Amino acid sequence: MHKNFANTRFLGKTITSLPECHSTNDFMAQLAAKEQVAHGDILTAEFQSKGKGQRGNTWMSEKGKNLLFSIYLKPSFLKVKDIFLLNIIAGLAGTQLINQIIPGAECELKWPNDVYVNGKKISGILIETSISKQLDFVVAGIGFNVNQSHFALPTATSLKIETGKAYDLGGVLESYAEFFENYYIMLEQGQRSHILRLYHDRMMWRGETHTYRSNGSEFEAVLIGINESGNLVLNCNGASKQFRTKEVEFVS
Ligand code: BTN
Repeated sequence: MHKNFANTRFLGKTITSLPECHSTNDFMAQLAAKEQVAHGDILTAEFQSKGKGQRGNTWMSEKGKNLLFSIYLKPSFLKVKDIFLLNIIAGLAGTQLINQIIPGAECELKWPNDVYVNGKKISGILIETSISKQLDFVVAGIGFNVNQSHFALPTATSLKIETGKAYDLGGVLESYAEFFENYYIMLEQGQRSHILRLYHDRMMWRGETHTYRSNGSEFEAVLIGINESGNLVLNCNGASKQFRTKEVEFVS
């Protein structure tokens, strides 16, 4: 793995690589508590024994095959209500990375931030925050499937499955960091509407009718997009409804 990146301003100037840990997000939060990290530092692991996913799920990954990493950020410019924008830029960086590696691939973001390529999930993002009076720090955890050939879930994929080729993990991480940093700088410069437009352009199922589940019942709706708070906006029989992350599931 590379020790630091030449083409970024602050991201990945310090990279710590562990053979194993419970979760890079948890390890990074522990380093933060001991004030042993700085804005833009990256922590990677070859294997996580308790990798965390969204909604309390686990994130499974074969040892040494994929990217498992956390980025430590101190976005002092960002209000707590706008933290969802970090999810968005982390997802956009994933789509841009995939299109750099596989130019013709259909690469979409399933709300809020799962990265899909050719209809299968290739990357997941777990943003965790420490908030006292204001936003203290953020740990952006990213799992990106690179060289794994088989998954228990039929809905998962990797770069290797999509292209038949193996990739250097350090090189893929470096490209991701460059894309992520560019979006982060855009956000810092106030280019929120531009970022939201890019996100909407990548949104899976946008403008289409599909089945969703909420409160135990299924219904058909057209996906409109997200609102100013990052909540999902669906049109159900002509009425616009908004959902927070745990309130709705995509069915089919
Ligand atoms: C999801 O459920 O889609 C989010 C998965 C996030 C996984 C990554 S792997 C690196 C970091 N450490 C963790 O424990 N989780 C995130």
